[in-house]
Amino acid sequence: MVKKVLMICLGNICRSPIAEVVMVDTLEKAKVKDVEVDSAAIGGWHVGNRADPRAISTLQKHGLKCTHIVRQIRKQDFSEFDFIFGMDEDNMSELRRLAPKESKAELLMLGDFGLEKKNRIIEDPYYERGAEGFETAYQQCVVACAAFMKERLQK
Ligand code: 4NP
Repeated sequence: MVKKVLMICLGNICRSPIAEVVMVDTLEKAKVKDVEVDSAAIGGWHVGNRADPRAISTLQKHGLKCTHIVRQIRKQDFSEFDFIFGMDEDNMSELRRLAPKESKAELLMLGDFGLEKKNRIIEDPYYERGAEGFETAYQQCVVACAAFMKERLQK
């Protein structure tokens, strides 16, 4: 059966598009099939836009392409997706608030897989001047996506 994974962050232009692309790449490299991955925003400010240029260039630096167009999370995501990931505690409380009673999705924080406790929050790099925070988010996603895949998708 196909499993569906949705990556969420506040704006869907920095962290969650990186997490989406990294998860797809992780699955492809491990030849894990039948997993669909998407990403979306909590807020609607950037709907219809591409990811932040710093997210796109960080992924490019690692040989990866991001063509995602921003969309906002919607009610049916909670019944269509098996796993919905937030990047930080604020994302998680918003997800819990938005989830309808009949939600089937597991709400998980991505950094709870594979990362040390002190490093488990994938911080918002949007307001930072450079692209360093994007590289940090990328590296956290690489570790967390591999750990999640091993724990939950390869059994
Ligand atoms: P993201 O970063 O949640 O990692 O995509 C942000 C992007 C935009 C905004 C906030 C966070 N914003 O307020 O526009």
